[in-house]
Amino acid sequence: RFYIRTFGCQMNFSDSNLMKNILADGGFEFTQNPENADIIIFNSCSVRAHAEDRLFSNIGLYMKKYPQAKFVLSGCTAKRFGQNVFKKFPKVDAVVGPSEIPAISEIVRGIFEHRKIIALGEAEYPVIRRKGGVSEYVVIQRGCDNFCSYCVVPFLRGREKYRKPREILDEIRNLASSGTREVVLLGQNVNSYKGETVIPRLISPAFGGGRKPPTLISPLKGGRDRGGFPELLRKIAEIPEIVRIRFLTSHPKDVPDNLIEEMAVNKKIAHHIHLPVQSGSDRILKLMNRKYTSGKYLEIIEKLRNKIPDIAITTDIICGFPTETDRDFEDTLSLMKKAKFSGVFAFKYSPREETAAFKMKDDVSQKVKQERLKIIQKLALKYADLSRRNFVGKEVEVLFEKDGVGHSSQNFLVLKQGAKAGEFLRVKVKKTSRWCLFV
Ligand code: 5AD
Ligand code: SF4
Repeated sequence: RFYIRTFGCQMNFSDSNLMKNILADGGFEFTQNPENADIIIFNSCSVRAHAEDRLFSNIGLYMKKYPQAKFVLSGCTAKRFGQNVFKKFPKVDAVVGPSEIPAISEIVRGIFEHRKIIALGEAEYPVIRRKGGVSEYVVIQRGCDNFCSYCVVPFLRGREKYRKPREILDEIRNLASSGTREVVLLGQNVNSYKGETVIPRLISPAFGGGRKPPTLISPLKGGRDRGGFPELLRKIAEIPEIVRIRFLTSHPKDVPDNLIEEMAVNKKIAHHIHLPVQSGSDRILKLMNRKYTSGKYLEIIEKLRNKIPDIAITTDIICGFPTETDRDFEDTLSLMKKAKFSGVFAFKYSPREETAAFKMKDDVSQKVKQERLKIIQKLALKYADLSRRNFVGKEVEVLFEKDGVGHSSQNFLVLKQGAKAGEFLRVKVKKTSRWCLFV
């Protein structure tokens, strides 16, 4: 029997789910209670030091509390510390990098043969048939090529890889037939998706000495966006049972007009985009290697709002990046006032070994970082509240994942007594709070 504790992002939650399915297929049984577990898996996150500290204190605690279990450390922290995990925690039995998660069954078997295991390479992802809930994560892309200067992800999850459109569509069709109504497409950069590179096929005549020019079967015209993200969205929308498509996370460098257009015309795409801006200061954005300016970012969201007036835009912001001055910080606040985000995840900069920014002095004090974080959070709440209040008296489309609890197209939490899980309704908003709509 195995138990899994997950830290970090949606990708990690999706990876944990994959482990659950693979282990269940391999004859192991999932338990909600670590007391009953023979194997405890910690699926870890390394994006900030805080996540790692929490992980370490939890592992220590669990090892004392559940001495009967064998322990697996999987995910980003496993990759980051490798062999050294065994030194830090001699009771850990296996260290499994994020790309080795598909091998979890063999790894667990190996542990029971009394071996310590370290798996830091890349395993093949299997096609898993799973029973879907109302809303399901579907990974379309893994890894990251962007190397934002503060971010450890490219070093731990490796280069960008895309799943084949056919595989993604098969998985979604399969989920749809078992009850799924919404898919959330996952990737570190979903919108850079390049699933199928279309190489025009040249067909030469079989006879005739090649005098006739070859015929081009896939014309290049209109071929530029073939196999890209907008086309994937279009194909998923053709699956009748799927009523809504979400995706995250998107990078502002990859929001071309044809994606905005697809979001505007495709009725199944949710009116929400999570578009991390990280900072409002052009100087800091450059140091972060984000490849856009605050002006460019605002231009993108203006286009989105022009085409999709009721779209909700959420973001991530880091405060206290090395050399961030009060003026840089003011630029971030001023961008927030213009962008009017529906939600903001704000973080204090956390230096990460291996990254380019690690070489810079972490010169903004904890005190200043904390003050800036509080200011961002306060301003964010104001706009979160406003963006929901704008919907009072208007209709929203809601998919209920549980009885009485759903999300609007904008990804706002919606509460409605009497609604049943799986219902997809258009309803009028009666009142709102900072966190939800009441309908
Ligand atoms: N320090 C603080 N926040 C970070 N993020 C990524 N790396 C760091 C870091 N070193 C934040 C970014 C990213 C989100 C997932 O985590 O805002 O978008
Ligand atoms: Fe990290 Fe930047 Fe890649 Fe996001 S886009 S995972 S912040 S390197």
